[in-house]
Parts: sequence; C-alpha cells; structure tokens
Amino acid sequence: MSRSLIKVMICSFCLIALSCKEESKEKSNPPVENAKWWKEAIVYQIYPRSFKDSDGDGVGDLKGIIQKLDYIKSLGVTAVWLNPIYTSPNADNGYDVSNYRDIMEEFGTMADFDSLLSGMHQRDIKLVMDIVVNHSSDEHEWFKQSRSSRDNPYRDYYHWWPAEKGEPPYRYSLFDAKGDAWQYDSITDAYYLHYFAKQQPDLNWSNPKVRQEVYDIMKFWADKGVDGFRLDAFQFAAKDTTYPKFPDGFEKDFIQYYAMQDGLHDYLKEMNEEVFSKYDVMSVAEGAGRNFKDAHKLVDQDRNELNMAYAFEGVDVPKYEGYDLKTMKDVFTKWDQEFADDGWLSIFLSNHDQARMVSRWGNDSKAFRSPSTKLLNTFILSMRGTPYCYYGDELGMTNIDFDSISQYQDIAAINGYQKALSEGEDMALFMEKLNFGSRDNGRTPMQWDNSEHAGFTNATPWLPVNDNHVDINVEEENSDTNSVLNHFRKMTELRKKNPVLVYGSYELVAPEHPTIYAYTRNLDDTKVLVLLNFSKENSEIQLDEQWSNHSILINNYSDLDFIDNSIKLKPYQAVILNID
Ligand code: GLC
Repeated sequence: MSRSLIKVMICSFCLIALSCKEESKEKSNPPVENAKWWKEAIVYQIYPRSFKDSDGDGVGDLKGIIQKLDYIKSLGVTAVWLNPIYTSPNADNGYDVSNYRDIMEEFGTMADFDSLLSGMHQRDIKLVMDIVVNHSSDEHEWFKQSRSSRDNPYRDYYHWWPAEKGEPPYRYSLFDAKGDAWQYDSITDAYYLHYFAKQQPDLNWSNPKVRQEVYDIMKFWADKGVDGFRLDAFQFAAKDTTYPKFPDGFEKDFIQYYAMQDGLHDYLKEMNEEVFSKYDVMSVAEGAGRNFKDAHKLVDQDRNELNMAYAFEGVDVPKYEGYDLKTMKDVFTKWDQEFADDGWLSIFLSNHDQARMVSRWGNDSKAFRSPSTKLLNTFILSMRGTPYCYYGDELGMTNIDFDSISQYQDIAAINGYQKALSEGEDMALFMEKLNFGSRDNGRTPMQWDNSEHAGFTNATPWLPVNDNHVDINVEEENSDTNSVLNHFRKMTELRKKNPVLVYGSYELVAPEHPTIYAYTRNLDDTKVLVLLNFSKENSEIQLDEQWSNHSILINNYSDLDFIDNSIKLKPYQAVILNID
C-alpha cells in the first residue's frame, strides 16, 4: 500500500469520526417548502407469500410478518407496501382478487391484519396496500354474476363482446398463453376482455357503479387506518370500448395503445375526491404512462390525482445481454430533471415483477455481490424520489438458478413458455432469458438464517429457497458490522438525517465517465456528492477544487483513495461526500 494512500485512509477515518461527531449533535434542519411525509418515506416492499411462514404450510403469512416487525423497524424504513393479501384463487399470486374485503386464507384472518397494522403503527411504520382494480379474479362474485346472463345487473361490470358480432378486434394479453386478450365464454356466447391472464377479467371503469364499488373498498381499508394505496396496473383501466382496430404488431408497443386512455384522469380525480382527499393517505400508481406529459398529468400537485408514480424506463434498462452505464445515467437523469419542479416519482431497481437487483444491475459473483449490492442501495437511497426497497435486497439476495420450466410458479413464465413453444422460438435461449429475468427470481423466500429452509418455514416452501442462504441471511449479516444489511441500515439513517438526500436538487457529474455514476445533491447550503463505481475494476475520477475539504458521509469500503482531488474508487465502491 502506498504511503499517500495510507495517509488518505487515516485522513478519511478522521473525517468519518468527525462527521459522526457532527451527526450526534441534534441537527435541526430548516423546513423544506412542500415537504410531505410520503416524500420522506422509505418504503420496504414485502411479498407476503415469501416473507415468513408462521404456521408451517410453506407459505408466508401475516403472523409471520408480525413476528418480524422488530426486524423491519431495525432497517430504518418508515413504510411497508404489502403485495395483495386479499382472498384470491392465486392464479397470479393475489393479483386476482375474489374478495377485496377479506384476507386470503393462506395469509391469515382480518384479526391478524388488524394486529399487523397496529404493530406497525406502534413502531411508527406506515402501511401501503396494493389495490388491484384494473381487473378482478374470474372467481369474484361480480364476475360470476356478470357471466351468468346477458341481462344480469353485473353484466356491465366487465367488458363483453357478443359472439354474433364476429371475432372481436385483436387485443394483446400480457400473460395469455396465446397472447389473446379476449376469452370466449359459452355461457352467454360472448367474449370477455383480460389484458392479463384469462383468470383476470378487466373491470369496466366507464361504469359508475364499478367506480363506486372500488372507492367503497378503498374507504373500507382507509377507515381501518391504512396509510396508502398502490394502484396496480391502473394506467390500463380506461378503455376505448368502440374497440378500434390497432395496427399489426401493435403489441410490441402496447403501452402506447393501452395506457392512459380517455377517461383515466377523470377516474383518478374522482378517486382523489372520494378517497384520497378524505384521509392522510399516500397514493402511487404502477406505471407513469406513455411519456412525460402523461406522467405529469398523473402526479403534478395541482392535478389532484396521485402523489407519485413508478416509471418503468429505469427498471427496463438491464437486459439479459447486459446494459451500459451511460443509458442508466441518461434515463435516471432525464426522469429526475423532468420532475425537478413539479410532480414526484418513486425510485426503485427491483420489485416482485423483476429479477433480483444485484443480479441485474450489479454483480452477484462471490467477490462482488457485497460491494455491488451496497452500491445499489446507496444509489436508491441517495436519489430524489421516494425509495422503494424490495425485501431481501437489504441482504443482497440473488437470482435463483432454475433449469426446467417445471420449477417455475409464475403464470407469466408458464404461459410465456407455452406461447414461445407454439411460436417455434429458440427454447434454449428462451430458458436462458427466463433464468435471468423471471419474476420468480425475485420471489424466493426471505433468507433469515442458514437452516434448511432459511428460517422461512419448517415445511416445504412454495418456491425453493436459494441455496446461497447458507451465506446470505439475516442472522449472519446482523452480526457482521460490514455486511450489506448493516450498510443498508446506515443508508436509511443517513437519508433520514439529511433532507438534502430527499429534497436536494440533482446534478449529474462527469456524464461521459464510462464506469462511475457521479451526482451532486444540493439543498440550501448543503451539497453532497455521490460517487458510484459500477465496475469490477478500479476507476478514477477527477473532482474540482470545491471537494478538497470534505467529510465522508458513507463509504462501502474502509478507505478512500483521494489524492489531489483525484479519487480512485475500488470495484463497486460507493461513497457520499459532503462539502465542509
Ligand atoms: C402488476 C403487478 C403484477 C401483476 C399484474 C397483474 O403489474 O405488479 O405482479 O401480475 O399487475 O395484476
């Protein structure tokens, strides 16, 4: 090790010590204009099926989450988003709801829900529910009624096309094995529409009765005290029911045809008036429309629609073939800049519809899994927007290796496989891509310890536990001060103590740097610099003079090679500097 590097190390340690001393003084941060609790929230997403099984059936449940509330609190997160927990036949793991006012039997009872909510509130953690109302389950009473006869009062709760009109105009289904969104139903000799699987018929939002039903359901949960709603696939809710013919091949760009159709904003304004405005709840939409204009219409403050939305462009960057950092920087930067003055977005790199964050964005090899996960968590928790952190990413959980379709549980994977087979695709390549990108990767059970089923269950888990749970698990990482888990906790603490990380303006530094993603955040007289080396090689960056006097707020290595304003970052090194 060179003498100058040692000098910098010592110096960095002093600075860390100094900045810790600073931190321990109660800082009073000046009020921020337009501050909102949901902007400051750090959301932890729990896929209940996979979090913790309390009753030995191999499926996670609400009591399991209750057992882990102290763990959740220890992460420093301030809100939890639960994937759907309502009664469901589980064609799509709860995204096919058959009763919106009750709890899925496998997950427990309403009494368990009430204890979970009060347990969260006792710990100052908010709860966000998933509202799945673009469609219901085909086993929902509404649909049973609707399909029973053409003149049933529930007929217009869904979209029907009578067979005597001939074949309906082709609509693409995201999950159907044939890709066809119209399902013929012999009971009434008609087709019903399902943008997702055929067990998920789309609700007819142009029917005011449907809308009222949904608002009542939302009020039912808001009256119980839940703190927010995530609107599943809602950008697809409005439809042009004259069913114009779409151009051939439209499905390659189906968002342009399906998202944000006429009526959607009226529905959201109505929902806001009926529900959101009456409670202190946050609202977030899955999907941000077709373009910035659409996204602004959803989330700008004066629109009175939603608080924030998830834009997919960011999370779509990594492909099976890889991704380049320049694209990542461009995408995250343009979304940030576009919403710098109005509107608000979510920041996320993974969720239950994605493969694991470190396997897509980082490097899940033994050598680099730990620093690259820390780097990705540093990124999410230092960007503008509300961060959504997916369970297990605080540990650096990775993709699982499945080699046969029989191992997959996800309806999208299984039906996608059938479709690819029938279309004569190269199945070896299909399986490789599935292995990399399947949603099941992100749904394997939480890794609590190194026991047989990772402490998730003592039965056979519904989806296999990743073999690497022997090394990657909460118990192990709790006791290691340098673990990914403890770095995550440091980052949540840092974000909560430093409003600059929530509200500060964002500016990209060295946009052309091939391996380092660097940006500043600036609020009043506070300025921080985030440096992320997205590479398994050392990478160097030259900083300007203003950074010569800095303290280190966080560093995923124990040292920092900072000489004459040049910083040499180690593989996947992530640091945040503060100008003194
Ligand atoms: C959303 C959910 C996804 C689900 C789909 C259909 O995209 O996030 O998990 O399969 O909607 O409800």
